[in-house]
This record gives sequence, C-alpha cells and structure tokens, in this order.
Amino acid sequence: MLRAIYPGTFDPVTFGHIDIIRRSAAITDELIVGVLQNKAKTPLFSVEERVKMLDEVTKEIKNVKIVPFEGLLIDFAKEMKAKVVVRGLRAVTDFEYELQMAQTNHKLNSEIETLFMTTSLDYSYLSSSIVREIAAFGGDISQFVPEEVMEQVTKKIKEKKIQEKRSV
Ligand code: COA
Repeated sequence: MLRAIYPGTFDPVTFGHIDIIRRSAAITDELIVGVLQNKAKTPLFSVEERVKMLDEVTKEIKNVKIVPFEGLLIDFAKEMKAKVVVRGLRAVTDFEYELQMAQTNHKLNSEIETLFMTTSLDYSYLSSSIVREIAAFGGDISQFVPEEVMEQVTKKIKEKKIQEKRSV
C-alpha cells in the first residue's frame, strides 16, 4: 500500500496543483493533500477555507484525502503513516529549494522519500500569489483556477477591500 503526501499552502488551489494531485493519485493507493497552516505566509484564506476548496475540487478523485497540518512535514508524514512526499517541479528555479527541502527532510527522517513530479507545461508559470494578484486587480483568473475557487477568491478579495476601506 503506497500512501503519499502532497503538501502545500494552497492559497488558493490552482489548476497546477490539481494537475499534480490527479497524476500523483493515479500512481499511489492513497494521496493525502496536506494543507499547511503556514505561519511563514499570511494566507488570504483560512486553513479551513483552503481545505474546503480542495475537498470540493478533488471530490471526484476517490483516493484523495485533504488533511490540514501544522509544524514539520516529516512529523505530519509519520502521523499519517506515509513514506513518500510528492513535490511538483515547475521550473529550474524550483529545483534548488526543493533539493534542499528534500535533503533536509531525509536527514531528519531517512524513512521518508521525496518524489518529484514535473508540472505540466501548461501550468509551469503558475503560482497562488500570481492568481491572488491578478484577482486583486480585477483580472480574469478563470484559466488558472476552477470556477468554485474563482468565486471564493473574488468574494474574499471584495471582503478584504471593504475591510481595508473601513479601517482607513
Ligand atoms: N502548480 C501551481 N502552483 C504551484 C505548484 C504547481 N504545481 N507548485 C507550487 N506552486 C506554487 C504554490 O502555490 C506557491 O505559491 P505562492 O508562493 O504564491 O503561495 C509556490 O508555488 C511555492 O510552492 P511551495 O513550495 O509548494 O510552497 P508552499 O507554501 O505551497 O508549501 C511546504 C511549502 C508546505 C511544502 C513547506 O513549507 C513545508 O513542508 N513546511 C512545513 C515545515 C517544514 O517541515 N519545514 C522544513 C522543510 S525542510
């Protein structure tokens, strides 16, 4: 039984993430998408909202489970009894950071292996912050995220703008 973890912040989930989720789920028995309560970033969406969006957009993939986590990835992997971590590589610029992370994780727990999957060419330029930025300026994000995510992003950005106006 091969259980793998695909970790990330997913703020919000994009077609690029979904591409990796689909392809990883196809080669594993169970894929756990680990949604990090990321203290290093200031996410637009709460971890609960990110989990909900991921649940919605992956509901047709039977062997995928969405689980929030905090702390170290290796601890989460151990808790989930997963021996493999899947990471997407979009471009050569991702490589150095990913290599460092994979090697550090392996040093911390040599039982956990990192498996790299190359992102489909269509999504190699994509990131969650690009999506948030385009949406914040009123741009069309329909090519980057599913419709239900697009609605949530638009709604959240509107709410944020109202809040910002109020606090001025
Ligand atoms: N398609 C589209 N976008 C992608 C993508 C893909 N296939 N792969 C990555 N991205 C985007 C992400 O959305 C993210 O965008 P953003 O920076 O605009 O938010 C960006 O590329 C970076 O992605 P990633 O490196 O996966 O960052 P992340 O914040 O989503 O996830 C963790 C990083 C969660 C894996 C990592 O921080 C972690 O493991 N943290 C736990 C603490 C820990 O164990 N630390 C020690 C590690 S050595």
